[in-house]
Amino acid sequence: MKKMQWNDSLSVGIEQIDTQHKKWIEHFNNAAEAIAARQSQTQISKTLGFLMDYTELHFSTEEKYMTELGYTGLQEHQARHNELRTTLTNLVKDFEDEGVTSKLADAIDSFLGNWLVQHIHEIDKKFAAFAKKS
Ligand SMILES: [Fe+2]
Ligand SMILES: [Fe+2]
Repeated sequence: MKKMQWNDSLSVGIEQIDTQHKKWIEHFNNAAEAIAARQSQTQISKTLGFLMDYTELHFSTEEKYMTELGYTGLQEHQARHNELRTTLTNLVKDFEDEGVTSKLADAIDSFLGNWLVQHIHEIDKKFAAFAKKS
């Protein structure tokens, strides 16, 4: 399993957001590790719970910030967040029902990490550029 790593190209130039993205990556790595190592159901459930909670905290921070600044791209950005909220909720639900499946392992390994990197580059950076001009 490849660990996801922070690098400067991911910086959006807003400290609070960068710090949260770094923490999100940590939670992601913890969950991915627990799944790859086929840790106990309880342990995996815990790491997925942390990842879910942190994802929500981060998304609401960005959405609150965008609302405060009257960002015109809020709706589109929020729609992307909502897509991931749904995907993540479904993954966790599948895990609770079926335990670790290859579908879950694959989703964690490729989809989630890639989603985050792409989202930061394409969506978060657009908003950050707007926030810095405001
Ligand atoms: Fe975002
Ligand atoms: Fe973000």
